[in-house]
Amino acid sequence: MKYAIIYWSRYGNGKKIVDYLAEKLKEKGEVMVFTTSDVDPAAMPEADLYVFSAPTEAFNIQKNMRNFMKKLEGMEGKKYGIINTHAMERNWLHKMEKLLSKKKMVKVAGVDFKVGKDASAGNGLMDGWERKLDEFAGKL
Ligand SMILES: Cc1cc2nc3c(=O)[nH]c(=O)nc-3n(C[C@H](O)[C@H](O)[C@H](O)COP(=O)(O)O)c2cc1C
Repeated sequence: MKYAIIYWSRYGNGKKIVDYLAEKLKEKGEVMVFTTSDVDPAAMPEADLYVFSAPTEAFNIQKNMRNFMKKLEGMEGKKYGIINTHAMERNWLHKMEKLLSKKKMVKVAGVDFKVGKDASAGNGLMDGWERKLDEFAGKL
């Protein structure tokens, strides 16, 4: 399996998730990790599965990731997993799913992580996040 992870993270909580996930997925194949500014959404690297990770900001998926998803090209039929971090109760996976379904991509799995008060220091992930991520990685 060849995986491409594309993420955006302001404080590092999402990056922590992505770094951990990349190590997990390396047990199953090749893993490439990019931020949304590292790759051109209209010329995506070839992969068997794409993982997108971004926080909720201002009651939406963070803007860079939203714009990135809107500009994706040539992704019809490609599989994806999604990750959302958020501070309030509600997660925004549905918005990521909506944007990717417009690109005719195929959802494999989604997971969200609520962050706590130390999120702005990059330490907001709650106990048990690794286990939750292991479960997600197992579906990819
Ligand atoms: C400008 C801004 C707006 C935010 N708005 C929301 C929001 O509407 N809902 C929410 O659940 N969390 C909100 N958050 C909290 C972020 O989701 C949280 O900081 C993020 O998930 C942490 O991940 P990161 O360290 O990868 O950036 C906001 C954070 C910032 C900085």
